[in-house]
Amino acid sequence: MGFPDIRPRRLRSNEMIRRMVRETTLSPDDFIYPLFVTHGKDVRKEISSMPGNFQQSIDHIVKDCEEVHKLGIPAVILFGIPEKKDELGCEAYADDGIVQRAIRAIKSNVPDLVVITDVCLCEYTSHGHCGVIEHGHVKNDATLELLAKEAVSHAKAGADMVAPSDMMDGRVAAIRKSLDGEGHTNIPIMAYAAKYASSFYGPFREAAESTPQFGDRRSYQMDPPNSREALREVALDIQEGADIVMVKPALSYLDIIYRIRERFDLPVAAYNVSGEFSMIKAGAKMGWIDGERVMMEVLTSIKRAGADLILTYHAKEAATLLNK
Ligand code: PBG
Repeated sequence: MGFPDIRPRRLRSNEMIRRMVRETTLSPDDFIYPLFVTHGKDVRKEISSMPGNFQQSIDHIVKDCEEVHKLGIPAVILFGIPEKKDELGCEAYADDGIVQRAIRAIKSNVPDLVVITDVCLCEYTSHGHCGVIEHGHVKNDATLELLAKEAVSHAKAGADMVAPSDMMDGRVAAIRKSLDGEGHTNIPIMAYAAKYASSFYGPFREAAESTPQFGDRRSYQMDPPNSREALREVALDIQEGADIVMVKPALSYLDIIYRIRERFDLPVAAYNVSGEFSMIKAGAKMGWIDGERVMMEVLTSIKRAGADLILTYHAKEAATLLNK
């Protein structure tokens, strides 16, 4: 049987029917909201390329977290801007580092909100790379120890989950071993498993002040043309003990999300990164696209591709629309 007996348009004839057969729906539960925390008091500095996102001192971060929690968003991910940067990124693993202090403040004011931390050195190092530098190269094995220290210090401060984003080999195992050794056996690891060397991170580097001072990240982040390699990265991270695996960026990598979803049974997260966010904001500001509708279409497409969790700067706006 075919046309004229079969008419797919019958199930599109009105909004109620469309709702009944809708295959993918978004919920605030799907979102993780990124926050940039900085030293000082009463600081709330808008990131020019990311309208509606700010570098905030802890007092404002706590207020923002209360709002996020009220909107029904279950989690935030924290990025820190240190007081000063050095070769080894010391503030990343200092007990009184900016992220560690923010975790304690959030957990004492909004205890139910899940606090995830980004585990990486690039915001804290003077050279802006994600690891230790020796003779102009990012050293893998020497970096593992510092990342593990950073993860443990976040857990000690009260973080609910850690998310390594550095792309060093073996870091998930190193972090798992250190967390367990310190009694943090219940802290999950969300691994940035397939993280690409992407130009879509541009605005984030303004937000986190983490632009590499020489070279680029292509010797550790993945080469954008590769997809089989992403499956290998994910398999390795799972073997090393990852609890959630992430693909980053999201929109130009929907095929990667899909392939990982098909092959593995762990929850899959996708990072709808800064450049993806800024393009929508810019297009909407120019009056060229309907920002809200494009935002919802993009987020839905990421979920439809197979993501269970979406890290997104749109989280508050999207949750507000969904709660209407
Ligand atoms: C740190 C890190 C980056 C992002 C998340 N964690 C930047 C980078 O790798 O250069 C990017 C997030 C975004 O663009 O929204 N390694």
